[in-house]
Amino acid sequence: MIKRLNPMRFDILTLFPGVFTGFFSESIFKRAILKNLVAIELHNIRDYTHDEHKTVDDYPYGGGAGMVLKAAPIFEATEDILIKTYGREEVKTGENAPFSIVLLTPQGRRFSHAIAQEMANQSHVILICGHYEGVDERIREHLVNDEISIGDYVLTGGEPAAIVIIDAATRLLPGVLGSEESAFNDSHATGLLEYPQYTRPQVYKGWQVPEVLTSGNHEKIAHWRLEQSLKRTLERRPDLLSKARLEPDNMRFLKSIQEDKK
Ligand code: 6GU
Repeated sequence: MIKRLNPMRFDILTLFPGVFTGFFSESIFKRAILKNLVAIELHNIRDYTHDEHKTVDDYPYGGGAGMVLKAAPIFEATEDILIKTYGREEVKTGENAPFSIVLLTPQGRRFSHAIAQEMANQSHVILICGHYEGVDERIREHLVNDEISIGDYVLTGGEPAAIVIIDAATRLLPGVLGSEESAFNDSHATGLLEYPQYTRPQVYKGWQVPEVLTSGNHEKIAHWRLEQSLKRTLERRPDLLSKARLEPDNMRFLKSIQEDKK
């Protein structure tokens, strides 16, 4: 296991920094930040304006509805982060750059467990929360090296997406969860959905916990759980099965439940 000397760092460029403070000061994040496993820095884009009205947006060239986020405040905020962190404002993000700059937009590549893992492998990610009708295209062309969307729907801004992405990546960092097992076995990490879970009491309103789980037979339990995972994935997300790497035994089991259905 590679030990991180510095915390994984996220910078968030946003018009609404207040959105984040509650989320990141509770529970797992509170602990991860205190343990120096992750650092989250908030930057208000409005602080990088120079006019009296602190203007962050403007009318689109060519006309049309809505406002467009100006390039300059977002460039300046990013350059400020880079100068303070690396002593240079060069924003070129090539292969070997120690940071990546990500625009959050419904036009980006769709977020997934694989992208969360990609992020968790980096040491520094700068997230830019888009807003209004869009951002000046020069931000896409000359500042960012990645664009991410969290799904096929439109949010009022990138802030909820930043929370989703940072949450999914942070829980993959070594030491953030109680035991590293728990992220390893997650739905989507294994390529399969998770098996059903139960806790005490053994009977609730007359509903029994499956007997196998209280049998004490660990081999049987593992087998039951794997079967449940396969069954659940087949029922709910058959698209995942084509990507999951399955043992021959599991392939046979899947075939048998598919046959039973016929
Ligand atoms: Cl990253 N931003 C916005 N505004 N809407 C979204 C999104 C992001 N991902 C899905 N919808």
